[in-house]
Amino acid sequence: MATFQSLPGFREFYPEDLARRNHIFRRWRQTAGTFGFAEYDAPVLEPLELYKTKSGDEIEAQLFSFKDKGDREVSLRPEMTPTVCRLVGAKANALKRPIKWFSIAEFYRYERAQKGRLRAFYQFNADIFGEPGPEAEIELIALLVQCLAGFGLTAEDFYVRLSDRDLWFFYLEALGFDDAQARELLGAIDRFEKMGDDAFKGYVEKFGGLTSDKKDAVLAFMKIRSLDALSAAIAPFAGEKLSARLADWCKVLDGLAAMGLGDFIQVDLSVVRGLAYYTGFVFEAFDRKGDLRALAGGGRYNDLIKKLGYPDLPAVGFAIGDVTTGLLLEQRGLMPNFVQAPDVYCVIGGEKERAAAFGDIHAIRAAGFRVDYPLKEVAFGKQFKAAAESGAKLALIYGADEVAKGVVKVRDLTERTEREVARADAVATVRDFFSGS
Ligand code: HAM
Repeated sequence: MATFQSLPGFREFYPEDLARRNHIFRRWRQTAGTFGFAEYDAPVLEPLELYKTKSGDEIEAQLFSFKDKGDREVSLRPEMTPTVCRLVGAKANALKRPIKWFSIAEFYRYERAQKGRLRAFYQFNADIFGEPGPEAEIELIALLVQCLAGFGLTAEDFYVRLSDRDLWFFYLEALGFDDAQARELLGAIDRFEKMGDDAFKGYVEKFGGLTSDKKDAVLAFMKIRSLDALSAAIAPFAGEKLSARLADWCKVLDGLAAMGLGDFIQVDLSVVRGLAYYTGFVFEAFDRKGDLRALAGGGRYNDLIKKLGYPDLPAVGFAIGDVTTGLLLEQRGLMPNFVQAPDVYCVIGGEKERAAAFGDIHAIRAAGFRVDYPLKEVAFGKQFKAAAESGAKLALIYGADEVAKGVVKVRDLTERTEREVARADAVATVRDFFSGS
């Protein structure tokens, strides 16, 4: 008989898988708290319109969209950014600024399934609204780094590439590209790593009328890997706007260095980001070995809230994906092995003893300890084996003799010692044992 399979690119989380996912979420949530970010949530199904043109062609082509029974055009969310802009935009004037928010949620993109890319995945999103200056970038990039370093990953495991769409537009305009061409070219640069050097050169060739030194200039700008090289490349166009921009760059890099995070940051102008709404600094996190797709991506998007019809509010943020983060932690041996062990395992004689044990089991659970016992009556020998295999530290033994005497036998399964205590003291005995361990 045919069995049902889950859809391609969708994961099922067996308990050990869910324990790993929860581990990642717990760290992210805890780290966001230490940075003073507040958690929010939002609908998983949204009006399709929210993503039309705002997110960009690539995401639009990947939407899980359909008509609902009320004939509405809807879509599962492919990302959080337009949604969080709506939430913040709707209350823009009432919220205390800077607004520092985060969420952990599932997203859906009809992508070609490959290593690190699925059709349903989770993201940790963090965004700051209402702060136009590069101080917001410092705060967010530091949070991004800590969200990965919090697992024990170091600057040898991952890094953040920092770039700037403002400078790219400025530079391309100076080279003679119009706005539409510049956007198209930046889209191609985003795919460059997948296209390879030669294919990209061929692509640049397509822009007729450009002299070969301009084509070379685009390729050279993309290869910029330091602030010195960046200021040298834009020096010929010196002006107030550009020197202010370079001052912002220094502020971000100096701020992150002062936090001790300099080793995690790499100037890299080949990062331009595929999403349509980014306006200024953009950044992506990658594993150092380059084995995996991006761990995280983000940037400034100062126009999006206004484009959605709300007040003008500057914004910057990023999202980390759970898939690549999980793969990197596994690769580096930083994913703990989660064992779902009870604290206490109860070994129970017959039906009569069961009633006595049940009272204690419930009381011990209510006191906050994890207690397990065999659901059905089985031989003592089997129960002791189950107790040993369960990973519990304590066994409580309810034999006919013990129950008749009003006691319970408490066995320390690690030390292999045993003693009897009055049943009335069962909860206190368990509490004492674990407060000392
Ligand atoms: P994004 O670069 O599209 O940005 O996604 C961010 C991260 O989500 C990626 O680096 C990756 O780890 C993960 N991710 C994306 N697509 C998939 C997929 N199909 N399978 C597995 N993981 C995936 C955004 O979504 C922006 N909205 C981030 C942002 C927040 N910008 C400003 N605020």
